[in-house]
Amino acid sequence: MAELLDTRGRPLRDLRISVTDRCNMRCRYCMPREVFGPDFPFLPRADIMSYEEIDRLASLFVSLGVEKIRLSGGEPLLRRDLHELISMLALHGVELAMTTNGVLLPRYAPALSAAGLDRVTVSLDALDEATFAAITDSGHTVAAVLAGIEAAESVGLGPIKVNTVVKRGANEGEILDLVERFSSRDIATRFIEYMDVGTTNGWAMDDVVTADEIRSLLTDLEPIPSQYPGEVAKRYRLPQGGEVGLITSVTEPFCGDCTRARLSADGHLYTCLFATSGLDLLTPMREGATDAELVAMIESCWSERDDRYSEIRAEASPSRVRVEMSYIGG
Ligand code: GTP
Ligand code: 5AD
Ligand code: SF4
Ligand code: SF4
Repeated sequence: MAELLDTRGRPLRDLRISVTDRCNMRCRYCMPREVFGPDFPFLPRADIMSYEEIDRLASLFVSLGVEKIRLSGGEPLLRRDLHELISMLALHGVELAMTTNGVLLPRYAPALSAAGLDRVTVSLDALDEATFAAITDSGHTVAAVLAGIEAAESVGLGPIKVNTVVKRGANEGEILDLVERFSSRDIATRFIEYMDVGTTNGWAMDDVVTADEIRSLLTDLEPIPSQYPGEVAKRYRLPQGGEVGLITSVTEPFCGDCTRARLSADGHLYTCLFATSGLDLLTPMREGATDAELVAMIESCWSERDDRYSEIRAEASPSRVRVEMSYIGG
């Protein structure tokens, strides 16, 4: 079978599946409480894919070349019995990772690992409790996230990575502490430039702490060659040992080799994090589409793909309605 390529010659390699649009945190830059309050129209249960439906689509994506599946949300661990989905997906023989805020890992890490999850990436924006509380705007603590990281480590869900979104005025003072804390433990911290995903976070370029600014805080970084084409993070070895990553979506876009497709919890396929709409796969699947018909839909969607939002951000219309990160997955 000929390799499936988009209009820019990019293959489909990664599938990121959001299993829920809900979260137990309300990070200011992702799900501000004023918007994502008690009246927010989260996806109704009937519109959310069952594990069987997710697994069926995942197997079709694997047949089209996907080599890595990442579960995300929202917070994926809010989905009941997630280990059951993991054990289904583990049968496809691809790398299986998850992005989580970590607080539910002490409870679920053993079952996730036993079911076949390979590794987790934990989001943590600060080590200082007050700073963390101001960002995440929920009752959870840094201590709980650290306990989650330990739980994941103890059951072998590594190499563990920590993702830190850096927002000016919120947490740039945490960068050195985070590096110090995790580099000694063989956990890579990856600093993410704050992005204009969605429309509810009031993003402004002035809020972005750029990769250059972060590099200037961390002296003597030694670049590590990327591990695979399309790797999102630029990686650096630290003089004291350990590594950090920079995810430079705003100042040094990496659309050129973007091989990622995203599947929302309601079964819509998005070919860019900054898409305005997705292709509904769930409705045809529920109406009886065959595997061949679903594959044809995915193939035609990917082969028409022309996305490179981060490269054309400056020209994009400010009124463009982008989907929310909590819906599409990080
Ligand atoms: P590894 O398999 O561990 O290398 O994971 P990864 O770096 O591919 O995925 P991860 O979910 O850890 O990505 C980290 C962050 O990078 C995400 O939360 C997003 O903020 C950002 N990111 C990931 N993929 C994309 C992308 O395709 N476009 C943009 N603009 N940002 C992305
Ligand atoms: N910019 C950059 N990263 C973001 N994330 C959520 N919203 C944004 C944003 N606006 C990150 C989270 C987490 C992952 C799921 O996405 O911090 O690491
Ligand atoms: Fe939840 Fe992650 Fe969004 Fe924070 S960034 S609100 S933890 S999905
Ligand atoms: Fe891929 Fe879109 Fe991100 Fe560019 S902006 S790297 S095309 S998801």
